[in-house]
Amino acid sequence: MRLIQGRGVDLRSLWRQGSVLLTLAGVSLLVVYVVAGCGQPAQQAPSPPAAQPSAQAPAAPAKQEAPPAAPKEEAYVINPPLGLPPVPIPADNPMTKAKVELGKMLYFDTRLSADRTISCATCHDPQKAWAEDRPTSVGFKGQLGPVNSPTVINTAYARALFWDGRAASLEEQALGPIENPKEMGHSLEELVKQLSEVPEYVRRFQEAFGTGVTKDGIAKAIAAFERTILSGNSPYDRYQAGDKTALSEEQVRGLRIFEDNCAVCHSPPLFSNYQYYNAGIGLDKEPSNKGRMAVTGDERDFGKFRVPPLREVAKTAPYFHDGSVATLEEAVRIMAQGGIDNPRLAAQFKTLKQAQLSDQDIKDLVAFLNALSGEYPIVEPPQLP
Ligand code: HEC
Ligand code: HEC
Repeated sequence: MRLIQGRGVDLRSLWRQGSVLLTLAGVSLLVVYVVAGCGQPAQQAPSPPAAQPSAQAPAAPAKQEAPPAAPKEEAYVINPPLGLPPVPIPADNPMTKAKVELGKMLYFDTRLSADRTISCATCHDPQKAWAEDRPTSVGFKGQLGPVNSPTVINTAYARALFWDGRAASLEEQALGPIENPKEMGHSLEELVKQLSEVPEYVRRFQEAFGTGVTKDGIAKAIAAFERTILSGNSPYDRYQAGDKTALSEEQVRGLRIFEDNCAVCHSPPLFSNYQYYNAGIGLDKEPSNKGRMAVTGDERDFGKFRVPPLREVAKTAPYFHDGSVATLEEAVRIMAQGGIDNPRLAAQFKTLKQAQLSDQDIKDLVAFLNALSGEYPIVEPPQLP
């Protein structure tokens, strides 16, 4: 908004717009509060993003901004919740507030799909722990995808993305679904053209990158937004930090069993070592998913999938790469029994089978996995231009 344009400022209209802005700010704070309070009763409101400590005078509330010229460099500082390490930020995509705001809009914008029916949030829904509650995704024109949609939560830390690890960074990943004929079915050229016709997007790309709308900017903004979606401060984290009342007895037993049998692959703090193993899931399907072999071409990688991180796992049913298992208990039982036998089953699963975990062990493990549900932001769809 351009309000301060030089000498001939109309004070009355400035005042009016100022108070409208303040009211809006108040209302939106209230909305955030209400939504965070009733949307997810078990969860506390996400802490607001920390402001960049600044040597300059504190900004006045509802301060008016000058029209954008150069990109805005105001940093967005991520303060990871208890239990999470610092978020790795790629050198060529530093976190700025302008970028995160833009990325949030793109994430929720159905313009990213060819027929304007699907956004990233369709398959990675903040209300569903940033995942999806169906076995495999329904994308462009109702097409069924081959795999379950994983949560976006904590992907900021993933060394490899997708079930077969075919993307190495969120930037690399972000453009994939847009052109995937089964997901959003769009063309990036078209999308860039379309967004370039929306003045607010043009202004926001200018602010975030100092350029017009570009593919590179779309990827970077979405990735920057995704890096803010973190879950930590779970009962497990509080227990590890010294609060011995944070876990029930059952959960403490589950933690010990988990450490002995599961943590080699589901390693804390993210509960994945980001390696690939054959657990024998979905091999009965025709055609079966080659898993990691699709990326490496190596026969030995047939049926291997990336170890899924387990934070918020209690909220991301159904389970496994093909979404074939409806409950957490059943998923844990399959793991505890050493996966599903096949000629390429990972050696670690054979060891697990020998451990012969009992029904009580499985119950304790499930109780423990529930203690990995912590705090994460539930972002409401922003106003789109
Ligand atoms: C039609 C549903 C659908 C849409 C739309 C969609 N995704 Fe996905 N997403 C998936 C599925 C399914 C996977 C897993 C694909 C695989 O592993 O082969 C996935 C994987 C991912 C991953 C990797 C997660 C991980 O743990 O490896 C990220 C990050 C992601 N999507 C972000 C996005 C973003 C950003 C958008 C919007 C530009 C988007 N997705 C649009 C279904 C969708
Ligand atoms: C050898 C490594 C390994 C070990 C050990 C292991 N897992 Fe897994 N886990 C995996 C892999 C790989 C998958 C994904 C399999 C697939 O989808 O095809 C998985 C999937 C899961 C899932 C489903 C998550 C989701 O989002 O779909 C749960 C839950 C799980 N494991 C719990 C456990 C528990 C509990 C133990 C210990 C009893 C355990 N795992 C031991 C590798 C391992």
